[in-house]
Parts: sequence; C-alpha cells; structure tokens
Amino acid sequence: MTDAATIAFPAWMDDIQQRTETALAAALPSASTAPARLHDAMRYASMGGGKRVRPLLSHAAGAIFNADPDTLDRPAVAVELIHAYSLVHDDLPCMDDDVLRRGKPTCHVEFDEATALLVGDALQTLAFQILSQPLPGIPAERQLDMVHLLATASGSRGMAGGQAIDLAAVGQHLTVTELEFMHIHKTGALIRAAVLLGAHCAKAAPDQIEHLSHYANRTGLLFQVVDDILDAEASTATLGKTAGKDAGHNKPTYVQLLGIADAKTLANELRQAAHDALATFGKRAHRLHELTDFIVDRTF
Ligand code: IPE
Ligand code: IPE
Ligand code: MG
Ligand code: MG
Ligand code: MG
Repeated sequence: MTDAATIAFPAWMDDIQQRTETALAAALPSASTAPARLHDAMRYASMGGGKRVRPLLSHAAGAIFNADPDTLDRPAVAVELIHAYSLVHDDLPCMDDDVLRRGKPTCHVEFDEATALLVGDALQTLAFQILSQPLPGIPAERQLDMVHLLATASGSRGMAGGQAIDLAAVGQHLTVTELEFMHIHKTGALIRAAVLLGAHCAKAAPDQIEHLSHYANRTGLLFQVVDDILDAEASTATLGKTAGKDAGHNKPTYVQLLGIADAKTLANELRQAAHDALATFGKRAHRLHELTDFIVDRTF
C-alpha cells in the first residue's frame, strides 16, 4: 500500500479538499479578468466552502483502480463546478429563495440576480471546457464518454430535471416512489457522475462500472435523505444555510413523508446497501466505504 492509501480518512479528505481548491482556483478566470464582476462572482460561488463531496467521490472511486490523482482532479473539478452552479440557481428567488449558502450570503444577494443567473451559465460551460481538454493517458473516445456522462447527469434527465420535479412538488403529496424519483434526479445524478467519472480515469471493466453505478445510486439517494434530515434537525449556524426551510416552503421530503425516525432508518438501510455494493472491490474501495459513512454521519 502506498502512503496515500494508508493515511487516516480525515487527512485524506483534507488533502482532496485542498487539491480541489487549488484546481478550482486554476480553472476559474481570475477576479480581475474582464468581465471582472462575473468572474469575481463565479469564484465567490465555487471557492472557499463546501464539503467537496463530489470531488471526494471521484478521487475515492479512482483510488480503487490506482488512477492518477492529477487526472482525477479534472472530472472532480468539472462535477464540482456543475454542483456549484446548481446551488447558485437553487438559491434564486424563483427557486428556493435562500439568502445563506456555505456560511455566506447567496450569490444573488452578494451580487445580483442577473449576475447569479450568468454565474450558473458560465460555471456549467466551464465544467465542460475543463472536462473536454485532452487528458493525458485517457483515450479520446473514453473522454467523450465522460463528457456525455456529465452532460446527461446535469440535464433534464438528471439534476435539472430533478429540480423541475422539486419545484412542481411544492405543496403536493408525493408517494415514496415519487419522492425517490425526484431525489435520484436532483441529487443522485451528479453523485453518480462523480463516482463513475473517477472510475473512467482508470480502465475500469464494464462489470466494475456496473457495481459502482449501483453503489452510486444508493449513495445519491442517501445523500439527499440526509440533507432532508439535517434541514429538519440541524441549526442554521452548523449548516451554513437556512435550516428548516423545507417545511417552511412546504417541500415534500423524506422527513415530511416518513417522520424523522423512519427517515433515519432508511438512511441506515441505504448506507448498508451502498457498502454491500462495494463488496466485489474488497479493501481497494476503503475510501468509498469511509466516505459513505461520512455522508451519513455528517453534521452539515
Ligand atoms: C447541498 O449539497 C445540495 C444538495 C444537493 C443536497 P452539499 O451538501 O454537497 O453542499 P456543499 O457543496 O457541501 O455546500
Ligand atoms: C438542492 O436540493 C439540489 C440541487 C441543488 C440540485 P436542496 O434545495 O435541498 O439543497 P439545499 O438544502 O438548498 O442545499
Ligand atoms: Mg432546492
Ligand atoms: Mg435549496
Ligand atoms: Mg436541502
């Protein structure tokens, strides 16, 4: 085992978070590059905050196959840029109308609504600019698959579609199946992309991709179930975003549908299913196992 494989999980997480910050800083135009206000806002919305769970997932999945961390930075940053864009738009007055994100005023509050809209547009296209640059050691055909994967996960059959369902569901009663469909799209799709993009940075076999896809589907749903629980239970100070807003906005969530105790039971069942889906990889998947537990046990 290499040093990177034996360091404790918190130190590994810290390392990936730091390298993601560095890679984001390099990928984003400087705040003094014209149009400076837009670039300043893009950096504001994507740097200096967030747990970086999606980059962590890309690196953890890539680690199974000993993928090069420098190569993994590329999809890690691309998926994080899409995520940051989704948060900027999610917070807009026409969507969740939130004023606090990652412990700071939301992008449209700090800047203005039109700028926030453009920040989302520009972060999204930057993600594909980054992911489509030639990647050393990766055949162009596989890279095209990676671009296709991220585009599908981001669009109307993925995250954006899930957000549309979320908005249409306000004040509605959803069945558990409908709620699962919404969560799998709005949050699960990007989580799945993060995992599979990591695997694509090495030459994972189709059956290995299949196992990882199953893992990621469970983990994506799990991530949003925990987000729903935290919204109901944690404080605004801990979350760095407004607590209690799902109930306040009449959003269907697992907490609303099942109650807090059953939502927690479901989270633990999904955690187990996610761990089980990794069995085929043995110890090589240890970072993904650790990350799965972090996703459930996190406090923000
Ligand atoms: C929040 O995502 C929005 C959801 C998809 C649930 P995160 O909890 O990953 O937010 P950051 O990136 O850590 O701020
Ligand atoms: C957001 O879900 C999902 C996306 C941004 C795609 P939420 O609306 O629950 O996220 P938070 O709670 O505002 O972070
Ligand atoms: Mg939302
Ligand atoms: Mg929201
Ligand atoms: Mg939420």
